Amino acid sequence: MPARLEIEGGIPLSGTVAVSAAKNATLPALAAALLTARPVVIENPPGLADVTTLTRLLERLGATVTRQADGATRVQVERVTSSEAPYDLVSTMRASVLVLGPLLARTGVARVALPGGCAIGVRPIDQHLKGFKKLGADISIERGYVEARASRLKGARITTDLVTVTGTENLMMAAAAAEGTTVIENAAREPEVSDLARLLSAMGARIDGAGTSRIEIEGVADLGGARHRVIPDRIEAGTLIVAGAITRGDLTVTGLAPEHLSAVLAKLEECGVTLDVAADRVRVRGPERPRPADVITSPFPGFPTDMQAQVMTLFGLADGLSRVTETIFENRFMHVAELARMGARIETDGATAVIRGVSAYQGAPVMASDLRASAALVLAGLAARGQTSISRVYHLDRGYERLEVKLAGVGARIERKRS
Ligand code: EPZ
Repeated sequence: MPARLEIEGGIPLSGTVAVSAAKNATLPALAAALLTARPVVIENPPGLADVTTLTRLLERLGATVTRQADGATRVQVERVTSSEAPYDLVSTMRASVLVLGPLLARTGVARVALPGGCAIGVRPIDQHLKGFKKLGADISIERGYVEARASRLKGARITTDLVTVTGTENLMMAAAAAEGTTVIENAAREPEVSDLARLLSAMGARIDGAGTSRIEIEGVADLGGARHRVIPDRIEAGTLIVAGAITRGDLTVTGLAPEHLSAVLAKLEECGVTLDVAADRVRVRGPERPRPADVITSPFPGFPTDMQAQVMTLFGLADGLSRVTETIFENRFMHVAELARMGARIETDGATAVIRGVSAYQGAPVMASDLRASAALVLAGLAARGQTSISRVYHLDRGYERLEVKLAGVGARIERKRS
């Protein structure tokens, strides 16, 4: 039986808890190491299953990955020994698709399994492939694999049909080593995209406009190594802040960048949560009962889809009706059925959920389904009366570093059990 989390709810969290480095910035940073034969050192890698998965993939491609005494991870790909990202790895983590662009740029060849869907949606990569074609690659799909070839990538003007975070990152990495100038219009503006641009620039790339919807990249022939400190994980930070709010606690979350979370902080204040925001920390005090509010997810700087399940859990205890509209993924309400088992009253209709707040959740045995849905169940368990047992907690380990240890450190009665 895989591990599960046992939570005794109803305890207000108090004290100080630190945020780890961002999963969704660490993954592209690791992939970027493929672009050069020199070492890339990530100073503060988070201890996450997804990071381990990508590290294993990089090793299969020829990388030497070493954990340094100071905790940093050193990745060096002196020679690419394979250009194939196999299905067994890609199917466990779709972010593996981030090796496509760097492999194409470095070796001119890439064979990457199509990621396939996941719990929250089909999640195609057509925009990535369309962009690579514009950069001069030949792309074909054969037996579930993307076969990409390019003798030399040439800069191009690319306008994506929709905002795609890893699509923007993949194209930016390929363009950094292409001949000439590339402009990406309708680019994702997420902080993780800007963080990757910062690393690529440290490696010698010439990039303007990262963080805006128009990024201009001047390709260079030989990218070098770099040392890089990854930005804090804004979604882990948001999750911890909601934990302080939903337990009526008084919690200080440190080591975050509040400017990466402004939509979430604004929404929480709308719900009556008290926030004292400083340069790298937020003190959160939860209301006796949250006020209802409405949320529509959208690309950065809008309300992040990765915080939708967590804020819906808070809405579930509000004194009134809230509405959540999920515009990014087509099936990101997997947490609703499990929250209902804890007493939440939520009606979904397509992309919209209507939440009728209740006064309390009841602890119950529940099952995690995807990364952020499992975070929502932890939050509900922390607030619930009685015992909650969350199974399939491996979903949580993909994106949260020792969450139960962090929460126990600020008063939660939570522990990991192997039965
Ligand atoms: C990134 O996924 C994040 N993952 C996701 O975080 C996050 O939810 C998502 O961005 C949106 O912010 C990483 O950065 C590793 P998209 P990504 O391409 O890049 C559609 C988490 O919990 N689309 O921005 O895969 C797609 O189906 C994860 O940490 C196409 O149609 O998301 C989705 O509906 C979950 N064609 C929408 O666009 C494409 O070629 C946004 O996807 C690409 C995307």
